[in-house]
Amino acid sequence: MIVVRGLRKSLRTGGATVEILRGIDFTVERGEFVAIMGASGSGKSTLLGLLAGLDDPTSGSVALHGTVISNLEEDKLAQLRGKTIGFVFQSYQLIPTLTALENVLLPYELNVSPNAAGADAGGWKAGVARARALLDSVGLSERVDHYPVQLSGGEQQRVALARAFILRPPIVLADEPTGNLDTVNGKHILELLLELNRVEGTTLVLVTHDPALAAQAGRRITLRDGLVVSDEVQGAGSPVSV
Ligand SMILES: Nc1ncnc2c1ncn2[C@@H]1O[C@H](COP(=O)(O)OP(=O)(O)O)[C@@H](O)[C@H]1O
Ligand SMILES: [Mg+2]
Repeated sequence: MIVVRGLRKSLRTGGATVEILRGIDFTVERGEFVAIMGASGSGKSTLLGLLAGLDDPTSGSVALHGTVISNLEEDKLAQLRGKTIGFVFQSYQLIPTLTALENVLLPYELNVSPNAAGADAGGWKAGVARARALLDSVGLSERVDHYPVQLSGGEQQRVALARAFILRPPIVLADEPTGNLDTVNGKHILELLLELNRVEGTTLVLVTHDPALAAQAGRRITLRDGLVVSDEVQGAGSPVSV
């Protein structure tokens, strides 16, 4: 599902080159639930952005569904990303001029139903129904018509999660998806993620500091200073050390 080979990322800032990722290799199988852990600054967000093709590696490659994304033209990449990945940014990245419901519907509008109001009204209705159901499942049924500025950080985070799932993507990548949630909401989101993983077979790769969330993942990859320092199967499997 996801094959990462020799992935490196460095940036030039001023005169110096900063090596953020220094050679990362792993493979994620369909339906796996992987927690990416590591101290702040270890390269987790950078890695997640590269997995989604939101950023280009300095060297190495990421393949999704057998397609190496680093070589794709921008429109082909956008198409593949739209069909394959739901992404939850650490900073949510909601559109301020759209309501919660409209934010969740945006990927649907862009990918499924450009003519929604006309020829494909049935498809549009189905999309609205799914968006409402997702907002309901993240506990926001009373907030569908609120704009991001009217929502708390945790509520915005839950809108971003609902948006990531609207197209039923085979892969969801999320950067600290419970980072701004209280215990009750965090637990609720964890249950939702587990259910999507189990019922829809969604492959989950989550960056997290949340021990409760990490404990539920089937596998835990830990980064330190841009390198994988451990890659362990949890639960039924036996640990695999790198
Ligand atoms: N655009 C950038 N310019 C310079 N340094 C960056 C940039 N983005 C990230 N970094 C640095 O790369 C390192 C890894 O960042 P990041 O991937 O955000 O780590 P994490 O998500 O694990 O906290 C950090 O030291 C960060 O300061
Ligand atoms: Mg980060």
